[in-house]
Amino acid sequence: MQVATLRHPTDFDGWRAAARAFRQAGVRPESAAFRIGGEPVGLFDEAAPAGRNDDAFTTPGAFIALAREVILHRAADRFDLLYRLVWRLRQEPDLMRIVTDPDVADALERAKNVSRASHKMKAFVRFRRVEDTDGEAWVAWFEPAHFVVEKTAPFFVRRFTTLRWSILTPDGSGYWDGEALTFGPAATRDMAPAEDEIEDFWKTYYAATFNPARLKTRTMQGEMPRRYWKNLPEAQLIPDLIARSGARTEVMVARPATAPNARLAKTLSRMNRDQPFGDGFAPANLAELGHAVQACRRCPIGCDATQGVCGEGPRDARLMIVGEQPGDQEDLTGRPFIGPAGELLDAALAEAGIVRGDAYVTNAVKHFKHTPRGKRRLHQTPVTSEISACRWWLDAERRLIQPKVILALGATAALSVLGRRVAVSEARGRAITLPDGAKVVVTVHPAYLLRIPDRTGRAAERERFLDDLRRTGQQL
Ligand code: URA
Repeated sequence: MQVATLRHPTDFDGWRAAARAFRQAGVRPESAAFRIGGEPVGLFDEAAPAGRNDDAFTTPGAFIALAREVILHRAADRFDLLYRLVWRLRQEPDLMRIVTDPDVADALERAKNVSRASHKMKAFVRFRRVEDTDGEAWVAWFEPAHFVVEKTAPFFVRRFTTLRWSILTPDGSGYWDGEALTFGPAATRDMAPAEDEIEDFWKTYYAATFNPARLKTRTMQGEMPRRYWKNLPEAQLIPDLIARSGARTEVMVARPATAPNARLAKTLSRMNRDQPFGDGFAPANLAELGHAVQACRRCPIGCDATQGVCGEGPRDARLMIVGEQPGDQEDLTGRPFIGPAGELLDAALAEAGIVRGDAYVTNAVKHFKHTPRGKRRLHQTPVTSEISACRWWLDAERRLIQPKVILALGATAALSVLGRRVAVSEARGRAITLPDGAKVVVTVHPAYLLRIPDRTGRAAERERFLDDLRRTGQQL
């Protein structure tokens, strides 16, 4: 067995270099292994081969994006699974599209588990107040299901920007001092404060919002899995609340009916009319929006897509970039602009001096509209009714982000952002001011550049595209 040593459990770059070296040396997956520095070396293990830079072998962007998530999974065989996929991709370049393939399905499932662990961390981290020499600080102890501390910490930076906080976990810890986010070594539970006065707040809040008549124990445990209970102050109440729910429901049923709240009913009916998703629902944050879009069936596209793909980027981004709809790779991974059009966009943004990570990148339509052709799924342009139905989600994203500048890539994005059809050739070259003061720059979609057959024409169009991006940068 040839064994590569990684620096730490989420050493993606180390794994990638080792996988490349194994692949170049023709080491089959059964003969390749990965260990984390410090783990014991087997008696018959050999060191992994050194990598070379002369091999043109590349892996698709969708695989790399998926691998970055899978490596955060706690199962020890994640490195082997990913290397098996690398090995197979050379002979089966379309492998990542075959979602029924056991290895691909396994990787997608693990990425889903990681994403779920990250969501649970956002929901279940409970900070406790401490005083140190610099004054007030907040410390939380959390035990994530997977290695999601670094992935999820930026969420807490956005949410608690003005506080000083630490999140301690058995895998590593995140620190925010109000200016910089840093990561440190693993911690133990006794390093975090055991309780504080906020504890009672959580308990009172939870007990007050607990509705015994709606108790579905299994659903509740799905939403708030038991593994997180021990670190949630309010979870101490759960056994007692469940035990008393039968008696409390009887009291509620026996109580005489009260008159409906007329004002509330009026507001709700207005919201239902204004908001096509119904139920007066308005997502309070991006995480809620990302969850809710999965249930959207306002138009038929959602029925055939793997998942809804919402935007990604900082909550306080000054720039919002809007594309048309997720493509094949975006549909599989759940992230916008990571396929070929995304690669072109990334390179052009960098050339125009715009950092993609500072922008909120999203699409006018949240599901992948496509038609099957053999094993491939061919992109189909969404029609006006579908763009209008999905506009509700883009508007919700705009409300939450409140960008100063919006870059609309192509006619679909321009229609959704401006609320009217415009010819890209006429609208580009200037900034359009929206009623809320935001500036919109319209340009072509990067996929259009990819489709231009001749090199000279493509280079000229790319220059015009870069001019539009620079104009966008100037608006910022
Ligand atoms: N094209 C888009 O418009 N959006 C994506 O996310 C990917 C390709």
